[in-house]
Amino acid sequence: MAKTKTIYICQSCGTQHVKWQGKCTGCNEWNTLVEEFVDTRIKATPAVSQVGKGQPKLISEIESVAEKRLATPDGEMNRVLGGGIVDGSVILLGGEPGIGKSTLLLQLALQLHPLRVLYVSGEESEQQIKMRAQRLPINNENLYIAAETRLERIADFYRQIEPDLIVVDSIQTVYTEALESAPGSVSQVRETASKLIRLAKDAGVPIFLVGHITKEGTLAGPKVLEHMVDTVLTFEGDRHNNYRIVRTSKNRFGSTMEIGIYEMLGQGLREVQNPSEIFITESEEDFSGVTIAATLEGMRPLLVESQALVTPMTYGSPQRSATGFDLRRLNMLLAVLEKRCGFKMGVKDVFINMAGGIRIEDPAVDLSLICSVISSLHDIPIPKKYVFGAEVGLSGEVRAVNRLELRIAEAEKLGFTRFFCASSQASNLNKQFKEIEVVGTGKLEEVFRLVFGGE
Ligand code: TYD
Ligand code: MG
Repeated sequence: MAKTKTIYICQSCGTQHVKWQGKCTGCNEWNTLVEEFVDTRIKATPAVSQVGKGQPKLISEIESVAEKRLATPDGEMNRVLGGGIVDGSVILLGGEPGIGKSTLLLQLALQLHPLRVLYVSGEESEQQIKMRAQRLPINNENLYIAAETRLERIADFYRQIEPDLIVVDSIQTVYTEALESAPGSVSQVRETASKLIRLAKDAGVPIFLVGHITKEGTLAGPKVLEHMVDTVLTFEGDRHNNYRIVRTSKNRFGSTMEIGIYEMLGQGLREVQNPSEIFITESEEDFSGVTIAATLEGMRPLLVESQALVTPMTYGSPQRSATGFDLRRLNMLLAVLEKRCGFKMGVKDVFINMAGGIRIEDPAVDLSLICSVISSLHDIPIPKKYVFGAEVGLSGEVRAVNRLELRIAEAEKLGFTRFFCASSQASNLNKQFKEIEVVGTGKLEEVFRLVFGGE
């Protein structure tokens, strides 16, 4: 019989405690300790396999080998991974339930035809996966489906099939018989993930792990999981909206700046190659409170519509709400408008929305957002052919942003005629662009005069 002992593990940071307590001493979180049984006969496994063996080497003596990458037919996935799936890498894909994680990976598995793919699911039956696969217009006769949750069986399947890629949907459902705790518990997730990572490294086979997300929006399971894997992707989007975005929060083999954009259709996910067009509404009428911002996601310029609604305050304190934008930054911009430009924002309710369900962190939307607010405040529409790309500083100054040429080129391509940016950047760009006028500004007042002053 296995000799077990009881320990208490923090579900947030993975710290072990010998007795239960309300607060974890590792991460100071409350109520995160959960009782687990561990088999004392099992030796703890190292988190990652022994990658290098033997003596330390001088860096100059180490041969440089370019990592082998599998470029997939999915251009968006290649982009976020930094050019394809690296051999032996382990990629964790997190996201809310129903957002499309299983669809994305099943579709990838089908697209990889004629490569051999092993898709292991602990969430759905083989029939359910088959039904889903039939909705997708592609076929891969070398795709193996296994509804299995035992880690030992998954390793057996690997040896039988020798696939080029493994998908495990999800890591929280996999368990090893070596541990007695329930699937999804910290020790199970850590142990099964570390075994799968070792399999990936030793056999050189890439593995995708699907990870659940907690109510707070972080990846469920121990934080160490994110440290163990090579790449962490999150699949996000608005459920009422068809657009889905893959972001990288960690990537050992590429940049974390790139995003991949998809559209969820009846027949699976479609790659969106020209994202600017989808985030801008085509309408004949002029609306107040709407402007176009030239943002950048990774190396890709993206024009998005920032919308503002400013109304007289209805309750005792002004309401502020921001969708797709940082609320603290909005408050800062409103304070700048109040203090530097004399607008009475303190008696207004302000609502901000980035159209299309996208979340923007690029500070280059500042100027566009401020103009949307003023446009809504005075109910004056801004000409539809204007684009804004600048940060706004605390003293109301218009600041430079990176890679401005890329942003202007995108706006020019889409037929915009005036681009507002910081004066420090504008000077020599006007000669470079023929179809679009680059307008440099130093202060917010100057922008308002040019945009609303009838010039
Ligand atoms: P799913 O991929 O199961 O999400 P997750 O694995 O993240 O929980 O769910 C995808 C959702 O998308 C589901 O509600 C059905 C829908 N869907 C489509 O709209 N089109 C399709 O082609 C498919 C396969 C699913
Ligand atoms: Mg799923």
